Amino acid sequence: MIIEPRTRGFICLTSHPTGCAQNVKNQIEYVKSKGKIEGAKKVLVIGASTGFGLASRITSAFGSDAATIGVFFDKPSTEGRPGSPGYYNTAAFEKEAHKAGLYAKSINGDAFSNEIKQQVVDLIKQDLGQVDLVIYSLASPVRTHPDTGKRYKSVLKPIGEVFTNKTVDFHTGKVSEISINPAEGDDIENTVTVMGGEDWKMWMDILKAENVLSEGATTVAYSYIGPDVTKPVYRNGTIGAAKDHLEATAFKITDELKSIGGKAYVSVNKALVTQASSAIPVIPLYISLLYKVMKEKGIHEGCIEQIQRLYSERLYTGEEIPLDEKGRIRIDDWEMYEDVQEEVMELWKTATTENLSEIGDLEGYSNDFYNLFGFKVPGVNYDKDVNEMVEIPSEN
Ligand code: NAI
Ligand code: NA
Repeated sequence: MIIEPRTRGFICLTSHPTGCAQNVKNQIEYVKSKGKIEGAKKVLVIGASTGFGLASRITSAFGSDAATIGVFFDKPSTEGRPGSPGYYNTAAFEKEAHKAGLYAKSINGDAFSNEIKQQVVDLIKQDLGQVDLVIYSLASPVRTHPDTGKRYKSVLKPIGEVFTNKTVDFHTGKVSEISINPAEGDDIENTVTVMGGEDWKMWMDILKAENVLSEGATTVAYSYIGPDVTKPVYRNGTIGAAKDHLEATAFKITDELKSIGGKAYVSVNKALVTQASSAIPVIPLYISLLYKVMKEKGIHEGCIEQIQRLYSERLYTGEEIPLDEKGRIRIDDWEMYEDVQEEVMELWKTATTENLSEIGDLEGYSNDFYNLFGFKVPGVNYDKDVNEMVEIPSEN
């Protein structure tokens, strides 16, 4: 079939298998071009099919020749209906990994559930024995709690008062003012339950109890801080409360892993266009200005550049991992450079519908968004008939 993008707000209902595969190949080439990393050899990635998790899986496999198990929640294709991008990404990743002689298997299902955790444990026991790195990169709006069966929904709201600021509809380029009402009722608790550290800890608990973590095993989860303009809706909002909880959980996990000399880290990453971040108001305007400034300075990075740098310049240098005053790894350092932030804030003040395509990188934002779904990828012929029925090799 011919597959075209069909967008509705900040989601795209279709995705393109050839474009997704090309994205994966480009990321693999990038990692290979940067040379070998003396990293972990057996890696579990939770949230492995898109964004930072996919980049982590690719960096482990093609930077360190690691065997990888990937966990994600994606929709396979059905006759006449494309699957979700993570599905096509993973199919392409596995194909390339197997071609390179690397072990790669995937589990598609709800990572929050006990069943999927047990399946992963069994697969590790069967194929790898133990893992030495666990990347935790889930981004989800909902979580069904495995103990109670209760379904929690996260919200993106400020805490305490109404937040009013500019935002952009990146499809039309229209800059407008948006007011977001503060969290009420159980909003904060619910968001922490979905995006906080409880599930990460549950994963590490079961992996340790089942003896599938090797001596000195490391686990890394991803967080975000960002600038003052997004603070009320991000870091000081409901999602920020969840990130506080996630960051605090790293210390609890490290305590628990003491007996095997293991460690848990949180890495603070850069703001990037992913399915998760497109849904947050105000952030798209910030990102389009940030992209402009960072590209002009030659320091723009995507997910793969970020994670390749995380591995090669933070996690696996052979020296102690540099941490900030709160014990976090910082790979958002370039985003947070003073001159970058000053310039972004200057642009922020003046940004309007009329000047945004000039002063901001709206095109870069939009392209990245379409790329997430395999569209507008250079070199892909979208007029060509494509088979939407793609299978992940290890899933049968
Ligand atoms: P993403 O939406 O690209 O990836 C999420 C992954 O989680 C996908 O592989 C998806 O299949 C998987 N997933 C979602 N629900 C699942 C479930 N119930 N069971 C199994 N898998 C599930 O998101 P992104 O942006 O890569 O986010 C990953 C982490 O990075 C999050 O913690 C996010 O807060 C953090 N982060 C994101 C930044 C950004 O600007 N995008 C910046 C800094 C940190
Ligand atoms: Na991810």
